[in-house]
Amino acid sequence: MSRFAAALILPLWLSFVATSAQVADYFKNFTLLESAVATGAVCLDGSPPAYAYVEGYGTGSSNWMVYLEGGGWCFSLENCKIRSKEYFGSSIYANGTNFVEMLDSNSQLNHYFYNWNKVYIHYCDGSVFMSDIKQVHPRNNLTFRGARIYNAMMEEMLHKGMGNAHNAILSGSSAGGLSTILHCDGFRALFPNTTRVKCISDSGFLIHGEGALANITGLHFAHVIATHELGALLPRSCTSTRDPNLCLFPEYLVEDVSTPLFLVETTFDSFQIAYSFVPRSIQWGGCSVDLAQCNSTKIGIIEEFRPIFLKTLLKLDKSSSRGMFVDSCYLHTHIVRRSTWMCSPLFRNRTMEQAIADWYFDRSPFQEIDNNASPQSCPISNP
Ligand SMILES: *[C@@H]1O[C@H](CO)[C@@H](O)[C@H](O)[C@H]1NC(C)=O
Ligand SMILES: *[C@@H]1O[C@H](CO)[C@@H](O)[C@H](O)[C@H]1NC(C)=O
Ligand SMILES: *[C@@H]1O[C@H](CO)[C@@H](O)[C@H](O)[C@H]1NC(C)=O
Ligand SMILES: *[C@@H]1O[C@H](CO)[C@@H](O)[C@H](O)[C@H]1NC(C)=O
Ligand SMILES: *[C@@H]1O[C@H](CO)[C@@H](O)[C@H](O)[C@H]1NC(C)=O
Ligand SMILES: *[C@@H]1O[C@H](CO)[C@@H](O)[C@H](O)[C@H]1NC(C)=O
Ligand SMILES: *[C@@H]1O[C@H](CO)[C@@H](O)[C@H](O)[C@H]1NC(C)=O
Repeated sequence: MSRFAAALILPLWLSFVATSAQVADYFKNFTLLESAVATGAVCLDGSPPAYAYVEGYGTGSSNWMVYLEGGGWCFSLENCKIRSKEYFGSSIYANGTNFVEMLDSNSQLNHYFYNWNKVYIHYCDGSVFMSDIKQVHPRNNLTFRGARIYNAMMEEMLHKGMGNAHNAILSGSSAGGLSTILHCDGFRALFPNTTRVKCISDSGFLIHGEGALANITGLHFAHVIATHELGALLPRSCTSTRDPNLCLFPEYLVEDVSTPLFLVETTFDSFQIAYSFVPRSIQWGGCSVDLAQCNSTKIGIIEEFRPIFLKTLLKLDKSSSRGMFVDSCYLHTHIVRRSTWMCSPLFRNRTMEQAIADWYFDRSPFQEIDNNASPQSCPISNP
């Protein structure tokens, strides 16, 4: 339990919630979607959902980038109760967000998407935007309405003109990357078939694994699914053919996503390793955020994760529309992180940013996996 609890705070890295709103101009205040309350689309604590929006201009004015915030999930009533009093279960504590890297408005830092309409959707349901329980939990006073929040947000963006987009992207990191996989085809359906619609899932490919690892990850997601009553809400293509408790694992979902999907991953995902792979007998400590703090024993454990991750990834069918950029850096999340977005190790002489853009704009497919068997060769680590 404590391992999971510790792991759940790791995705905080990617929210980088500014502590002072008066900083750089890439900080945007959240807008509360008050109108969603009437349809019951509310956060765990009953507060209205929140988003931040930057209007597109020039050549980007009819292009849309929707980003689903990450931040773990909750896996029991008690755990969701705690979350409901914090940033990831409420909008009360959420002031706004920085628009950085793939969401950056600076054309020097974000060459291809800087002038698009950009939407950052705050994550406050703990269910990867999937839950929809009618009744407010009688004892805990919790509302499980992630799917309603997602729908209300999409409606709001359609009101702002998203339906007329020429280009559109659904994206997210960590839990938001998993949400992206789950919502990708539904997002596509919002647009006419003349719109170029694709999805980018960053660090959302949580593997099931085998043996003892599979027991841990399987039980964990089974708890998430039970808590949020997701059994009937997860994709039918998965739930009708296997144990529904497995249907939060991307390896059982991705092949049924028909919209082009780009997976941004590392073979040494620091969140996955800490949350399910590290033996309980080992104190992971500062090694969870900084490779320099990992001794040789821990680096050995990190390196053991790679073949298991690769085996899972390589089992996927080789859809030509799927993009893949898999580095071998010890970190979690890429597309909203400066060091990886622009300066990731080059594949075929391309940065991650260029690889994603070439794939998105149909200039060239991209499926590359770095072949370094150790994270120590990567110059980038967590902040
Ligand atoms: C939001 O703003 C309030 C009031 O200015 C501040 O106390 C709080 O720390 C901020 N929260 C975050 C997450 O930045
Ligand atoms: C953003 O919120 C802060 C704190 O509530 C406020 O001082 C500021 O004026 C807001 N900025 C805009 C552009 O609304
Ligand atoms: C339950 O939540 C609602 C907001 O949805 C709040 O108004 C009410 O006071 C809460 N009740 C209890 C007992 O916490
Ligand atoms: C796009 O939609 C139109 C009208 O719904 C249909 O006639 C056309 O065949 C579709 N084109 C493609 C490429 O699916
Ligand atoms: C996984 O769980 C099953 C069922 O509880 C158990 O029989 C099996 O021994 C476990 N496997 C490992 C490798 O721990
Ligand atoms: C590395 O650290 C762990 C946890 O503190 C410890 O169990 C292990 O023995 C250490 N390994 C080495 C080679 O020092
Ligand atoms: C790699 O890219 C750089 C910058 O785009 C370019 O100057 C260089 O010629 C390229 N090298 C190769 C081998 O294509």
